[in-house]
Amino acid sequence: MAKLRSRSPAETETVGFRVGQMLSGGMIVKLYGDLGAGKTTLVKGIARALGIPAEFVVSPSFTIITEYESSPRLLHIDLYRIDGSYDLESTGIWDAIGSDAVTVIEWPEHAGDELPDDSVIIRIEHLHDDERVISIEGIDEKYWHNM
Ligand SMILES: Nc1ncnc2c1ncn2[C@@H]1O[C@H](COP(=O)(O)OP(=O)(O)O)[C@@H](O)[C@H]1O
Ligand SMILES: [Mg+2]
Repeated sequence: MAKLRSRSPAETETVGFRVGQMLSGGMIVKLYGDLGAGKTTLVKGIARALGIPAEFVVSPSFTIITEYESSPRLLHIDLYRIDGSYDLESTGIWDAIGSDAVTVIEWPEHAGDELPDDSVIIRIEHLHDDERVISIEGIDEKYWHNM
């Protein structure tokens, strides 16, 4: 597991960009962290790595899944408002998972243990002010040595 320090939104976006460069179609990224931790900020960087302008990526208020026509496609899923597997069923998430898209999921814990284990796992911890610790599992640790 890699542990990185971020001191600004731009640094978190850069980490996302580096993650995005390692992703290929069919991969799933689970993104954990409290409200305001910086999950959507990190997704902006992933999007940019796939050729999507970062400003296109916003926190969805009611949309659960936002799809971007990059290559591979990006599916940005936010399960914040999802409560239980009945709810989950109605989101279309099972079509996303197992597709050829890169699927990034905020609040994966709201899906219980129903999501596939095979995924990149990112945890963002808010230390104080603009400081964050970002832990990343599922990408070779050596990749981060020059960050
Ligand atoms: N180091 C940092 N990394 C990410 N966001 C930060 C950082 N420092 C301050 N922020 C601010 O925290 C907020 C994070 O919001 P957002 O990315 O939407 O979080 P989440 O999706 O986890 O709820 C933004 O307002 C951002 O500007
Ligand atoms: Mg968010």
